[in-house]
Amino acid sequence: MTSDPPSTLLLFGATGDLAHRMLLPSLYGLHADGLLPPDLKIVGTARSALNDADYRASALQALREHVPTDFFTEDKAASFVERISYVTLDATKAEGFAALRERIDPAQGLAIFLSTAPSLFKATIDGLEAAGLTGERVRLALEKPLGSNLASSREINDAVAVAFPEARTFRIDHYLGKETVQNLLALRFANSLFEPLWNSAHIDHVQITVAETVGLEGRGDYYDGAGALRDMVQNHMLQLLALVAMEPPADFDATSVRDEKVKVLRSLRRIGPAEVGASAVTGQYAAGAVGGQPVPGYADELQRTSSTETFVALKAHVDNWRWAGVPFYLRTGKRMPERRTEIFIQFKSVPHSIFASRGAAAQPNKLLIAIQPEENIRLWLMAKTPGLDRQGIRLREMPLAIGVDNAFADHRRRIAYERLLLDLIEGDPTLFVRRDEVEAQWDWIDRVRSAWGEAGVEPRPYAAGNWGPSAAIALTERDGVHWHD
Ligand code: BG6
Repeated sequence: MTSDPPSTLLLFGATGDLAHRMLLPSLYGLHADGLLPPDLKIVGTARSALNDADYRASALQALREHVPTDFFTEDKAASFVERISYVTLDATKAEGFAALRERIDPAQGLAIFLSTAPSLFKATIDGLEAAGLTGERVRLALEKPLGSNLASSREINDAVAVAFPEARTFRIDHYLGKETVQNLLALRFANSLFEPLWNSAHIDHVQITVAETVGLEGRGDYYDGAGALRDMVQNHMLQLLALVAMEPPADFDATSVRDEKVKVLRSLRRIGPAEVGASAVTGQYAAGAVGGQPVPGYADELQRTSSTETFVALKAHVDNWRWAGVPFYLRTGKRMPERRTEIFIQFKSVPHSIFASRGAAAQPNKLLIAIQPEENIRLWLMAKTPGLDRQGIRLREMPLAIGVDNAFADHRRRIAYERLLLDLIEGDPTLFVRRDEVEAQWDWIDRVRSAWGEAGVEPRPYAAGNWGPSAAIALTERDGVHWHD
């Protein structure tokens, strides 16, 4: 589903880190490949007092730093920045919006991207509305965090809904823009092989890991108020879980896909104070070493003590027919031993092993969907070790692997935001998060947090460079399950 492309992309937060590292390089990528509408103008705005030339120079600098060198050319960068202009604007002051209106005709179509602190969302929307920069041909994309709990997320959604109906609101979860995340849908729904097995009769459990080696990265002000549960689980990990667990949508369109995801999110079993001890482990990194380099602890980086979690491991359940009794183990953390995002599916054992009497053990099948940094899909199957078997049959697990990187080496790996920005420009919300999904996510997360509060759960220390506190290992071991490392 696409509509007439807008003539302008308006970027709030244009001098910020996301704009420099992701948004401008993504727009450059689309421009260089001839995918942006030829007449699309990009208007950046932020509080810094810059003129067009200053901002173009800083955009060029950002491209030189962040676009892979084999894809960067000065010519294309120069023609790209021709599209860009800049308006200095303090979103809390209504008068600044008049200057924007002078440059932009919303009747010609406008896509707005808010990459600012959520505390500015309401003022920005009021300003846009007062200046006449809303209407039928205007759509709005919002970056996370969309609130810090269900109540504040509703406030933001209500403020947005005053000027932008749901169909023109594009909530970003950049994980949905990742090629390998979309590939999960292809794996599940473009193959007949897995779907008949994709249920509690055949799957023992699911693990989702999002491990990062980085620490605070100078984002202490935001991160310390958020923590791993709200920063990573509320959005990215629950979206991954929903894509793994959802029923087959009737179509790959915004309504069908999001209808199925929200059903999963609403089926998540609530974790209360009685369960939280056994179902949710939190940790905070202490000094340690990552990749052989010593790194300080969280409190040292933050320069104060804090009870914010930088690691969380959860045991979740999707209470519906398909998934009854199948645990979904989730873990994410900063300062882990390696950067790794993956989904691991553990199938059940064969119902009866004909080889047991010949001394051979058949391991249950496993499927790994590695999302980053490696992109591959690996299925472990049992095979017979060659031989005459006089001492018994020997079986061995053999991986069947698709290295997505190599298999599609002729395709450029794109930044997730390239896909999302193009979908925004073309008006396709399939890979954006609908209000009911965000609210179902918050509802579940809020309950975990209040259960922690009631049960007095405090993060346990783990040395940087480890897979979280030992309680995270106990979380799965109690069920006889090992984390896939
Ligand atoms: C962001 C979080 O949403 O995702 C960050 O705020 C995190 O804390 C980042 O580092 C991870 O994204 P990616 O694409 O590097 O896995």
